[in-house]
This record gives sequence, C-alpha cells and structure tokens, in this order.
Amino acid sequence: MTQKRVLSGIQPTSDSFHLGNYLGALKQWVELQDGNDAFYCIVDLHALTGEIEPALFRKRTLASAAQLIALGISPEKSTLFVQSHVAEHNQLGWIMECLAGFGEASRMTQFKDKSAKGGADSARVGLFTYPMLQAADILLYQAHYVPVGEDQRQHIELTRDLATRFNSRFGETFRLPEGYILKAGAKIYDLQEPTAKMSKSSGSVAGVLEIMDTPEANTKKIKSAATDAGREVKFDEKEKPGISNLLTIHSSLSGRSIADLENEFEGKGYGDFKGAVAEVVVEYLRPIRTKALELLEDEKHLIDLLHEGAEKARVVASSTLSDTYKNLGLVK
Ligand code: AMP
Ligand code: TRP
Repeated sequence: MTQKRVLSGIQPTSDSFHLGNYLGALKQWVELQDGNDAFYCIVDLHALTGEIEPALFRKRTLASAAQLIALGISPEKSTLFVQSHVAEHNQLGWIMECLAGFGEASRMTQFKDKSAKGGADSARVGLFTYPMLQAADILLYQAHYVPVGEDQRQHIELTRDLATRFNSRFGETFRLPEGYILKAGAKIYDLQEPTAKMSKSSGSVAGVLEIMDTPEANTKKIKSAATDAGREVKFDEKEKPGISNLLTIHSSLSGRSIADLENEFEGKGYGDFKGAVAEVVVEYLRPIRTKALELLEDEKHLIDLLHEGAEKARVVASSTLSDTYKNLGLVK
C-alpha cells in the first residue's frame, strides 16, 4: 500500500483553538495520521499578516503546538513543525509570487474580506501574498491531500493552478494537491450569533467554545447559548440555527446521529438539551486541556519536539526546492 502525503497548516493566532477549528479541521488531521504520511505546520509566518505582540506570539506558537499534540497529533506518527523553522517555505513562496497573476490573487475572497475589514489602505502586502506562501507550504511537500475547512477551498484551487502552470512551463515539478474538505458537521457557528461562523476574530467571547477554557466557562457559554423560537429540539438550520448548531456539536463529539438526539429530546425543553450538550463538550475537552497544560510546563521538551519535526520536514522541502531551482534554470 502506498501512503498518501497529507499536509495542512494552522495559524498560532490565539491562546486556544476553538471547537470550530477542531471539528472543521483538526479532528481530520488526527484521523489522517493513520495510514498516511502527514505533515502538520504551525504557520507562524502567515500569522505575521495580522497584529503581533512578540511575547504573546511566542506563547501562542507554543500553546498551539501543545494543543495539537494534546488533541492527538502524534510527533511520532506525523511530522509536526513550525513554518519559520523551515526556510524553504519563504524561498518557494517567492517563486509562487512570481508565478501568480495580480488579478487572480486579487480574487481571493479571504483577502477581500480581511482587507475590507481594516480598510483597504491599511491592509498589508503580506495579506495579499498570503495565498502564494500557502501554495508553497503545500507544494514543497508534494501533498496529495490538504485537509482544511470550506473557507480554504479557493486557496487550494489557486495552489493547483500555480502548480499546473509551473509544471507546464518548466517541467513536471509539483504534485497537484487535492483539498480534503469535510462535508457534514464541518461548519460550527457562534453560540450567541448562530448564523455567523464560530471565530475568534469576529464572534463574541461568549459565542466561542475554547479548548483551553475551563469546564465551568464552557458550560456557562453553552447554557447561555442563543436559542430559537419554539421549544422543540429539531434540526432546522433556517428556522432554528441555534438548536441546529448545538445538535451538530453534540453529534460530532458524541458520534450519535442527529435523528437519535432529536428522539431523545422530544418533549423535553431546551434547558435539558443544553445541559446534555455542555456535558458532552466538557468531558470531551477535559483530557485535551489537561494534557496541553502538562506539555506547556516543560517548554524545552516541547521545543525539542518541534525541532525534530522541522528536521524531518526539511528533508522533503529542500529536495523539492532544489528541483524547482534547477527547473527554473537558477545556477547552482
Ligand atoms: P482560522 O484560524 O479561523 O483560519 O481557522 C483554522 C482552520 O479551522 C481552518 O481550516 C478553518 O477552515 C477551520 N475553521 C475555523 N472556524 C471554523 C468554524 N466555525 N467551523 C468550521 N471550521 C472552522
Ligand atoms: N490559510 C490557512 C487558514 O487560514 C492556513 C494555512 C497556511 C494552510 N498554510 C497552509 C492550510 C497550508 C493548509 C495548507 O486556515
């Protein structure tokens, strides 16, 4: 059996990942480790496109690593590393920028959304070139699959376009990667505003369930989640976005079907249902949080693990970069 190469990345932009990150992306990372050759990258360079406070940034990079290991990314099974530890990412990133058109980069919706938020004049050039660095992250490892949330589909398409263009102009160099996007249950919404996706940047604090939050805090957030008119626990995203979101969360973590949950809570109120959701979430996250806190107590060990990951990553990345330079005619 040939193993498939898997690559994904996540930004270390917060003290804690939230349940949307986990159910939309990270849970798949864990599953894909088995039977595949997985590379997982903490994309600190991508995070520089936002506001950075150095001490906090350092802390968040380590906290991200600790959480990834705690939620099941095993440094033995997969290659877990920090993007800035492998310089080839920047090097291939530049090549990708020289390949991409200004027009196609301008069409990236994540760039349009993020730059619109802060006013177009304050948007960084790095925010604009972000997808080309992401393409480099992926192509360096000759990835077959890229597990990401739906919002990243366009960046994967761009990566494929760039790889195709490079290969046809300069000779076969990169494998065309495929997005690996979870269909059902992938999108988790803000508890307070269940029509907006759960997100640290846009949502309210009370609407976001964090892996590193205390069990008490998460229980409270779930119990005060916005619900909908009526009293029935029924999945109906149009009429009942709040209850539907809680059903998705319960079902994704407990593994029980939505229909099964609807049956169990038939005739019971929203209060009972929220209590059950809180229990499922809290018990699911408890061991993850404990393990992450433990890892953070021994920073040196954690950093050693990341350095070992970077060593493994560099072997693959440098080989791809060297082929790329050669095919481009750069003198060695
Ligand atoms: P972010 O740091 O917000 O860009 O998210 C990191 C990863 O988690 C991306 O692959 C997103 O697609 C995914 N993600 C973030 N928020 C959600 C959400 N509310 N529901 C599902 N997936 C999400
Ligand atoms: N842009 C991705 C996000 O916002 C993060 C990312 C950077 C990524 N490089 C990547 C994801 C490479 C997959 C593969 O979630």
